[in-house]
Amino acid sequence: MKNVAVAGAQWGDEGKGKVVDILAQKFDFVIRYQGGHNAGHSVVFGGKRYALHVLPSGVFHPDTVNIVGNGVVVDPFALLKEIEGMAQKGLTISPDRLLISDRAHIILPYHGIIDRWRESGPGKRHIGTTGRGIGPAYEWKASRRGLRFCDARDKDLFRNRIEAEYKAICALYGDLDELKEWPVSRVLEESIAAVDRLLPHVVDSVYVLAEARRQKKRMLFEGAQATLLDVDFGTYPYVTSSNSCVSGITAGAGVPPAAVERTIGICKAYTTRVGKGPFPTELHDDVGGQLRDAGHEYGTTTGRPRRCGWLDLVALKYTHLINEFTTLAIMKLDVMDKLEEVKLCVGYTIDGKETQQFPAALSDLERVKPVYKSFPGWKTPLHEVRRYDALPVEAKRYLEAIQDYIGCPIGLVSVGPDREQTIFHHADYFN
Ligand code: IMP
Repeated sequence: MKNVAVAGAQWGDEGKGKVVDILAQKFDFVIRYQGGHNAGHSVVFGGKRYALHVLPSGVFHPDTVNIVGNGVVVDPFALLKEIEGMAQKGLTISPDRLLISDRAHIILPYHGIIDRWRESGPGKRHIGTTGRGIGPAYEWKASRRGLRFCDARDKDLFRNRIEAEYKAICALYGDLDELKEWPVSRVLEESIAAVDRLLPHVVDSVYVLAEARRQKKRMLFEGAQATLLDVDFGTYPYVTSSNSCVSGITAGAGVPPAAVERTIGICKAYTTRVGKGPFPTELHDDVGGQLRDAGHEYGTTTGRPRRCGWLDLVALKYTHLINEFTTLAIMKLDVMDKLEEVKLCVGYTIDGKETQQFPAALSDLERVKPVYKSFPGWKTPLHEVRRYDALPVEAKRYLEAIQDYIGCPIGLVSVGPDREQTIFHHADYFN
């Protein structure tokens, strides 16, 4: 029985929520280790769609314990809203099924205000963030100003720290209208009340997971965002503020590297990106529009239309080098059903020079011209296919070209949003 990491291999929104949900019933723990409510994981079953943001995708399985690790930044208002939303749908999330690390940092209303201010107006560098305060919360963490759930147990300390930070924030951002709506009295009253409601969930998850390992319980580590949005390996500065590749697990969950035994790389059959930043295979034509429409490519968190393009194997190989995926899950293959021709990017040229490497510099990424290999489309609806052998030969050729280039087996192919619409090619990777 192995522990598994589920990691995004592109720019996010690959379908990690669906894969985690399918696998979760086999695991004792599902653990989020980075990001916050910028994430949007969709899970569809029984004809209903559920959008998860901070809650790990194991919440639908009654025997799975869900952990929000120390590496996650938690907006208490957003998390309570999510828990309440689930309760309205008949799913009660009791403190024994949702544990929050006492070392996790708290997103305060200021963080969102600063994030949104930076994204608005001329003369600023717009990243296209989700506006949820993720970047400022991680900045506070790194600059040793952050507040953690363990700090909230000492009310005087918590109040004093918020009051001190409020003064510093007003000195910098005092003119902002949004800030005026959040005087320190309101922040203290509402934030403390919200954090208090979450305190029954707060534990030292290092000891919980150490004991779980001792008892050989199975763990599933659920990544949010993806490697191309990772603060170290992504298309910096157009990235999120955490380590969303598998290396983030050890620091963000408090487990040793050996705890991660398998890594499933989640990858769409094409590519999408939401927010700004380089995207070498982006399509600005009808095909891009077709992918967006057929794939319902609009953000789960912000509703923004996603940019769409061909699958970029240079980028995927790069994320494979960083994460060493044990297997790939290719998602949303059915979205390409109607295309006459499908393409894979198998190389880049930069100023006429060919390369197979994904460059670090933004200026290089912006000059990349993709080299494509073209394949005939399968032009057959795939949403009812359940066996790999039953896929049309053109679809199999496309998948095999991906597998050969990356040097990693494809273990799962998704042909629709529902749990049932899944083809297990190498079921042994998922046992
Ligand atoms: P932030 O994480 O809100 O700071 O946003 C930084 C970048 O990451 C922006 O381009 C966002 O669109 C992107 N991003 C953040 N979370 C997600 C996600 O869950 N899926 C896809 N993109 C995301």
